[in-house]
Amino acid sequence: MYFSKQDIDNRRARLAPKWNEVLTKGEAVLVYAGAPIQKPGGLDNTYTYLPHPSYYWLTGRRREEEVILYSVDTGWIEFQKVLGKETAFWEGEKQDVLVDTPGKSLVDLDAFLKQFTTVYKLGQTSDYKKEGKAFTLNTLLDQTRRVKDDAEIKLIRHIADIAVHGYKKIAEVLRPGITERDIQIAYEAEIFRNGAHTTPYDSIVGSGPNAAILHFAPSQRVVGEQELVLVDAGADIYDYCVDITRTFISSGEMESRQKALYQLVKLVQDSCTKMTKPGVYWRDVHNKAAALFTEGLLHLGILKGNLSDLIAQEVVYMFFPHGLGHLVGLRVRDTGQEENLHPKTYFGARLRVDIQLEPGHLITMEPGMYFIKPLLEDEDNKKKFKECINWEELNHWMNIGGVRIEDNLLLTDSGNDNLTAAIPKISI
Ligand code: GLY
Ligand code: MN
Ligand code: MN
Repeated sequence: MYFSKQDIDNRRARLAPKWNEVLTKGEAVLVYAGAPIQKPGGLDNTYTYLPHPSYYWLTGRRREEEVILYSVDTGWIEFQKVLGKETAFWEGEKQDVLVDTPGKSLVDLDAFLKQFTTVYKLGQTSDYKKEGKAFTLNTLLDQTRRVKDDAEIKLIRHIADIAVHGYKKIAEVLRPGITERDIQIAYEAEIFRNGAHTTPYDSIVGSGPNAAILHFAPSQRVVGEQELVLVDAGADIYDYCVDITRTFISSGEMESRQKALYQLVKLVQDSCTKMTKPGVYWRDVHNKAAALFTEGLLHLGILKGNLSDLIAQEVVYMFFPHGLGHLVGLRVRDTGQEENLHPKTYFGARLRVDIQLEPGHLITMEPGMYFIKPLLEDEDNKKKFKECINWEELNHWMNIGGVRIEDNLLLTDSGNDNLTAAIPKISI
């Protein structure tokens, strides 16, 4: 299996000393797995069950409603659920216990809790509030579990290899006349064939102008000649995943504007990847990307005026409206958001993750440049950036769509290791 009992023990041993500094005798922490969520109006029909990632990380178990307890007095105790006979014939042998550890029965939990003066509830529970000691404990948990261990990295590398097959399949099938939907089907069939359990998010396939729509759902649009095709699609095994984007050309070589755009995004990705090291604040890497993009847009003649004024006016938001990346690994949005209670904006983009990087973090590096009609045709934006954008020149770019290139960087002691490097990029 993917994780051993030793892996789980090591995770708990990393976290317990941090919690011990905050907890006093008589206090306990519970981390809840959570229950399946019913579909609206669906009677007994639920969404695919996903355990809370903190519970799953601490136990290697994916069984609904379970809880793990920690206190200074007792250490770790699992409260587990025994599956009823009904499950056996409706659902068969469930693959929901990846690491089998001894525990107490869930029905004994309430009685057990009577010995504690205070219980802090984390994980999938409506009792969790982002304040006080519970918030501190949760932040410590998130900070600990975002440092990936060897078993997690091994699994994520394996998932990246699966995605390589998917992206190679896209390169094989891509041609004018294929639909966005057919590209999605070809990719997903290939990753499932190679062992993925699911996709970590709805696959994005945007061709031509659709490439400018950040989270575009693949449509029946037929891909034309010499169009950019942006594919942002990952792969998932038991909630571990990669989040990858490549931008392709549907036929022939890129024409000069497409090529210039691709080269700019690639240059920003390369420069920012070099900066991504332990000790660096992620916001500084994002800001570097925004400054380089501003400079690039000025060189291309899409912006006009003085570089430092353009940077100060944050006009780059019109072409790069999202953050440079987010933590990834255990789910497509790994930790980093929860503790960022009042996200700040940098160059107009609200950063999901505003942390200092450490070895073991896994973060996406996803610069993108887009020609987004709802932004560029908005009357307020047109007024605001009247003097910064060369609107006449912009007309020549409006239907190009966009380019995003996204990789997953594992922070090492001195720099980073690109886990998705084997997925080919266009070399121009
Ligand atoms: N796959 C969506 C994103 O890159 O954030
Ligand atoms: Mn993505
Ligand atoms: Mn991403």
